[in-house]
Amino acid sequence: MRILKLFDVARNVSNCVIRRNFVRNFEPFINMWRILILSNCFLLILAGDGGTRMARFSPIDPSSFSRPDLAVVTNIKLSLKVHFDQKIFSGNCDLTVKKLHENVNEVVLDVKDLDIESIYETETNTKCKYTLSQPVGEFGSELAIEIPPKEVNNYIFTINYKTRPHASGLQWLEPEQTAGKKHPYVFSQFQAIHARSFLPCQDTPYVKTKYEALINAPTDLSVVMSAIRDATKPMIGYNLHHFKQDVPIQSYLIAIAIGALESRKIGPRSTVWAEKEFIEMAANEFANTEKQLKTAEDICGPYVWGIYDLLVLPPSFPFGGMENPCLTFVTPTLLAGDRSLANVVAHEIAHSWTGNLVTNANFEHFWLNEGFTVFIERKILGRLESPQVQDFDAYGGTVELKEAIKVMGSNNPLTNLVVNLTGVHPDDAFSRVPYEKGQTFLRYLENTVGGPAVFEPFLRKYFDTYKYRSLTTDEFKAFFIEYFSSTPEIKNIEWNKWLHTPGMPPVIPDYDKTLLKTIDEMKQRWLNWDEKSGPVPFSGDEITSIQKIQLLQDIFESEPQPIKKLEVLEEKFKFTEVQNAEIKFRWLRIGIKAKWEKIVDPALNWVNEVGRMKYCRPLYRDFYNWEEMRAKAIQNFQDNRKNMMHVSAYTIAHDLRLKE
Ligand SMILES: *[C@@H]1O[C@H](CO)[C@@H](O)[C@H](O)[C@H]1NC(C)=O
Ligand SMILES: [Zn+2]
Repeated sequence: MRILKLFDVARNVSNCVIRRNFVRNFEPFINMWRILILSNCFLLILAGDGGTRMARFSPIDPSSFSRPDLAVVTNIKLSLKVHFDQKIFSGNCDLTVKKLHENVNEVVLDVKDLDIESIYETETNTKCKYTLSQPVGEFGSELAIEIPPKEVNNYIFTINYKTRPHASGLQWLEPEQTAGKKHPYVFSQFQAIHARSFLPCQDTPYVKTKYEALINAPTDLSVVMSAIRDATKPMIGYNLHHFKQDVPIQSYLIAIAIGALESRKIGPRSTVWAEKEFIEMAANEFANTEKQLKTAEDICGPYVWGIYDLLVLPPSFPFGGMENPCLTFVTPTLLAGDRSLANVVAHEIAHSWTGNLVTNANFEHFWLNEGFTVFIERKILGRLESPQVQDFDAYGGTVELKEAIKVMGSNNPLTNLVVNLTGVHPDDAFSRVPYEKGQTFLRYLENTVGGPAVFEPFLRKYFDTYKYRSLTTDEFKAFFIEYFSSTPEIKNIEWNKWLHTPGMPPVIPDYDKTLLKTIDEMKQRWLNWDEKSGPVPFSGDEITSIQKIQLLQDIFESEPQPIKKLEVLEEKFKFTEVQNAEIKFRWLRIGIKAKWEKIVDPALNWVNEVGRMKYCRPLYRDFYNWEEMRAKAIQNFQDNRKNMMHVSAYTIAHDLRLKE
C-alpha cells in the first residue's frame, strides 16, 4: 500500500515536471527530471501487478467494483489457516465463475488489504494474469483476473492469498480482551462491505452463492461459521474444521469466529455458543428461541436454513446482532438477566426471510432488509406478548427515528428511505432510518390495504417469489402494485414522499397507546418530585423492563434533570451498575445531559468495554456536545480505539469530527 502511494506522488511530480519541460527548457533541471522519471518507472516495477488499473465502481452496486453482469461467481470454497501470532488468515479461495457473454475476458472482484500471491485457473492449470487497482478510500481495490481461453464458459480460479492484521472485517482479540483471559479470539463482521477484507469476492448482495470452508485452527479453540458443520478432523498439532452452506447467500453473510467457546443446546434446532463465563447466562437468556422461530415461521413460511444457533461475542462486537445464517452473532449486552432484550433475537430470526432469503440488491435499498425485519420482529413480539407490546415497541421506534433524523438533519438525503450511495461508504450512511422509517412505511402499507389478514398472505407470496434473490425498491413496488391491483386505496400511497424525500415519514400510524399511559403518569410523578418533597415516588416494580427503558427515554428527552435528584435516584436504583444495558445506556445519557460530573467515568469506562455502536455512538456524541468534556472524551477514544472493531472506530471518529 505504501509503495502505491509513493508511486502516486512520483507520478504527479514527474507529470508536472514534464509539462514544464515543454514550456521552458532549463538545462540544469534535466538530470532531476531523469531521476524523477526513472524513479517513476522503478516504482511502477515495484508495484508489480498492481497500480496500473483505475478502479471503476460497478454499474450494479455503487459500493462494489465487481462485475457480476459480465462474469459471475457461482460458488466459493475457502481453505484457510488462522495465525493468531500474526493476526492473519492464509490459504486459498476457489471461486467458480460463469462467463455471461462470449467476449468477456476478465472476472472482476473486490479485495481490500489482501496480499494476493498467485492465481490459477484450476481445471486447465493455467497461471492467470491479474491487475489490482490502487485502493479507493475505504472501498478497497478492484481485482481483475484474465480469463484464459477455454471451450466452456465455466472456470474455477484458485487465489492464494493472505489477509492483513488490520482487516476491517475482522477483530483480533488478545487473551486479556476476552472473558476467559487465556486464549486469543477472532471474529468477523462483514456487513456491509467488509467481506472483501477476508476473501477476494464479488462483494455485493446482488450475487448469491453457496460456500464451503476448511479451517485449520489450534486444537484448544472452537471454530464456528455461518454454515452447517460437516466434520472436524484432528490432525497433528491442529484441527481441520469443515463447513458447508448449501443455501446461496451474499458475501456479507459469510462469518467466522474462533475462540475458547462452549456450547449448550437450547432447542431442537438451536445451540448457543459463548465463552464459558457467559454460557449459563446465555442459555437462560435465549431459552425462548424455538418459540420465536416457530412464531416467525407462522408469519413468514418455512425456515430453510436447517439450524438456528446463536454466538454470544465479546463486548467489542459492534452491533446488537448480526443475522449470519445458521449462526446469529449477538452482543453480550443482550444478557439482561430477565430476557427483556430477546427482541434482538426475534429481529435476527426475522432476517432468515427478510435480508437473508430475500435481499436488497445493494445498500441503497437497505430498508428492504431492515425495515421488513423490524416489521416482522414486531409481529413476532405481538404474537408472543400482546398487540399492545407490539405497538409500544413501534412507538419507541418512532422516538428513535426522530432522534436519528434530528442528529442527521431533516434535509439530509441520507434520511430518505432509498439513498444514493454514489461515493458514500455504506458505513457512513448507516443509521436507524432504514429500520424505523422502513417499518413505519410497511405498517402504513398494511393499514392501507386492510390490515394483517390481507397483508400477511402478501408477505408470504413476496418471500416465496423473491427467495434466493436480490431486488431493488422499484421491483418491490411493482410487485406490491400488481398484487393489490384491485385494492383502490393503494392509489393514495405517496410513493415518492415515502421513498425519496428526507425527514420524518409523511404518516405515523395510530399505534395502541395503552402501555404508554402508565409511563406518562410515572414520568409526571418523576418530573414533579424532588429530593426535598419526600422519598422517591416509586419502587421500580410497578413496570416491566421494557417500560422502564421507555420511561428513561422520555426523561432523557425532557429538560436536563437537576443533579441532586439524579444522585438520590442513583443511590436508590444503582442505575449505573444495572445489568440491563438499555436501562444503563439511557441513565448515562440523562446524566451527561445534566452535566453530572460523577457520571463521566462510569460512562467512559462503559464505552471502553462495550463496542456496540448503538450505545457508543450516542454517548460519544453526547460528550462531544458537552464542551468541557469534549477533549476528555476524544482522548478516551484515541486511547481505546485499538480495542475497537474497525467499523465502530471509523464511525465514532466521524461522529467526533476527527480527520482520518
Ligand atoms: C447520486 O449521486 C451522484 C453523485 O453525487 C450523482 O452524480 C447522481 O446523479 C445521483 N443519482 C441519483 C439517481 O440521484
Ligand atoms: Zn437487522
